[in-house]
Amino acid sequence: GRKAYIRSVGRFLPEKRLTNKDLEKMVDTSDEWIVTRTGIRERRILEPGLGNSYMAVRAARECLDRAGVSAESVDVIIVATVTPDMFFPSTACLVQRDLGATGAWGYDLSAGCSGFVFALSTAAQFVESGRYDRVLVIGSDVMSTIIDYTDRNTCVLFGDAAGAVLVEPCPDPDYGILDFIQHCDGSGEPYLHMKAGGSRRPASLETVKNREHYVYQEGRQVFKVAVKEMASVTEQIIRKNGLKGEEVAFLVPHQANLRIIQATAERAGIPMERVVVNIDRFANTTAATIPLCLYDIVVEEKRVKKGDYLVLSAFGAGYTWGSILIRW
Ligand code: ACO
Repeated sequence: GRKAYIRSVGRFLPEKRLTNKDLEKMVDTSDEWIVTRTGIRERRILEPGLGNSYMAVRAARECLDRAGVSAESVDVIIVATVTPDMFFPSTACLVQRDLGATGAWGYDLSAGCSGFVFALSTAAQFVESGRYDRVLVIGSDVMSTIIDYTDRNTCVLFGDAAGAVLVEPCPDPDYGILDFIQHCDGSGEPYLHMKAGGSRRPASLETVKNREHYVYQEGRQVFKVAVKEMASVTEQIIRKNGLKGEEVAFLVPHQANLRIIQATAERAGIPMERVVVNIDRFANTTAATIPLCLYDIVVEEKRVKKGDYLVLSAFGAGYTWGSILIRW
């Protein structure tokens, strides 16, 4: 049957860097605590007022330019995000307009840190079915706009960035996006959410005063489940497809915490040399972490060879989690 593949990758990184040293001046924390507990050294911060679509459009444009493909020829745009420009219209509509993607429809997909994985598997189905030939998948988050920079528990963890991939029919059906496994479990809601601003608790003077428009996370609780489920779904997709950990050329994990990444790699039997890590430079950019990792190994370092097996894995708010197997 027809298979989908990733033809091109693009990214956008804001210029401004926020280092652990900078955070030491803002909250009661230390570079040492942040590095040893999370692996993060610095993160990028978008200039206030620009919004998600500013980054998403730039990542998408680089992705299309690298493939030599026009914006008019894109069929579908999926934007994975938890920080849209506004509730409506969707960020995908704004990206469609600003890119000049006159033939495209699209929508936003909300799955926290698993957003890119959910969006990529969806794009692959659109292509595999034969319905569409050109789907842009963008993971973009302006986490700095929903972070409380007086809360040391969360403010050290996140950064801003966007990544984009172009999904098309694979010229050779033995390659491309081979399989995916995905889950959600809403019992995770109490441990990772934004308290107000939605229809259950609309914005009010009170919600603003109580600082309820920010990421709320019970880190220890989320950590436990993240380690268990991300490791399990990674191991599962490898085994289900008759592979062994040592046959995986690259594990491309969501970047929430270096310790979660290490535990996942160990359980899946993949040595750390073959695990893509950028959390030190960009922190947790939510839906952007995986396309940023792909950009590193595909565009910057050119380490990925035809036929390489890649496993993408993520865990995030919801809870949501999943893995994708790609033969490059
Ligand atoms: N600097 C200094 N000390 C701190 C900081 C900080 N920035 N943050 C917390 N501490 C303190 C805590 O107050 C606590 O002190 P106490 O023992 O006196 O209470 C101590 O450090 C240990 O806190 P823990 O929360 O137990 O630290 P832990 O080792 O669990 O690390 C972390 C916290 C990094 C948040 C970790 O739990 C984690 O990575 N959790 C998972 C995150 C994740 O995967 N999220 C999902 C994706 S995000 C999304 O979907 C939007």
